[in-house]
Amino acid sequence: MQLSIIVPTFNEAPNIPELVARVSAAVEGIDAEIIVVDDSTDDTPAVVETVAATAPIPVRLIHRAKRTGGLGGAVMAGMEAAAADACLVMDADLQHPPEKIPELYRRFIEGDVDVVIASRYAGGGTSGGLADRTRVLVSSASTALTKAMFPIRLHEVTDPMTGFFLIDRRAVDPSTLMPRGFKILLEILARRSLRIAEVPFDFAERHAGRSKASFRQGLHFLAQLTALRFGKMSLFALIGGLGAVANLAIMWVLIQFGVGYIVAAVIAAEATIIGNFVLQERFVFHDMKHQASGVWSRFAKSFAFNNTEALIRIPVIALLVETWHISSVIAAGMTLVVAFLVRFMFHSLVVYAP
Ligand code: GDD
Ligand code: MN
Repeated sequence: MQLSIIVPTFNEAPNIPELVARVSAAVEGIDAEIIVVDDSTDDTPAVVETVAATAPIPVRLIHRAKRTGGLGGAVMAGMEAAAADACLVMDADLQHPPEKIPELYRRFIEGDVDVVIASRYAGGGTSGGLADRTRVLVSSASTALTKAMFPIRLHEVTDPMTGFFLIDRRAVDPSTLMPRGFKILLEILARRSLRIAEVPFDFAERHAGRSKASFRQGLHFLAQLTALRFGKMSLFALIGGLGAVANLAIMWVLIQFGVGYIVAAVIAAEATIIGNFVLQERFVFHDMKHQASGVWSRFAKSFAFNNTEALIRIPVIALLVETWHISSVIAAGMTLVVAFLVRFMFHSLVVYAP
């Protein structure tokens, strides 16, 4: 087998027949297979089986019981199952024209590359298929942000967020990847320095159905970017910082409604502790929580820790000011830094411990 074509699918039944027909026609002369990695709740698997029976090239179906890692997880599962080391990844909805496959493959076998990227933003490429103005704006803004955060690795990449690329499986180390959500190529490129080539393409309109991109995917993307760049700790700090702002905002609102400032401070602090817990479950420790104790036990530990920390911090500030004669603002700052480090350690080593 020369080429494995990996197609992640989530409810794409109406696109499958056209996709398989156009891919099969396009790869004539190349020994290729299609691997559909499916998480659907519709009849996509049945349609794949039917089409596979008469398809000119092998079509394999992997139907996953759990949607682990979403689109990115599906791509990794496809690479693992692939018969060829040359793995081409493309969407099922025909926004990625199958007729481009031979050009990507030719560039790949020319050599000296680990990945050939089909780019909407390279000279001659277009992004016309992006559904609306908001998507266009979000796409170019996030591309710029991403490139700014990885200036070296992504220097020569015009479209790090594309879902259309051909990669040598041997250049990917799955153990270093945390595939989640849509930006699997970015994850791969950011982890390791690869030899890259680009081929421009025209991003088409969807053949049928609707995009699975969402606001939630956008949040996932921001979390992924921060985690990739600065690791869990800074993501934790980012959430802590947002929490501090929320804390003050809640307090201000309560005081406007005539609530006494002490009661307001307590309510705001508790609300922030709970909010932070929800965010850190979702974005910081999402990959560790399954191995830890149940959610209520995690919450109890986190809640108890944060309250204890808040209570202890006040006398510690007093102690620093009284015994070491440090200014109160500096003392408070010192306790915040130490508290942050201890809190992070406590959460990764206790709350989310296996
Ligand atoms: N297995 C699996 N699991 N497949 C999924 C999942 C999932 O959770 N979510 C989406 N897919 C599949 C879709 O069925 C489709 O084949 C492909 O992944 C892309 O999803 P779309 O819903 O069509 O995404 P898009 O068109 O908005 O985004 C595409 O373009 C972006 C660039 O603008 C994707 O290629 C993105 O990766 C790309 O960044
Ligand atoms: Mn699409």
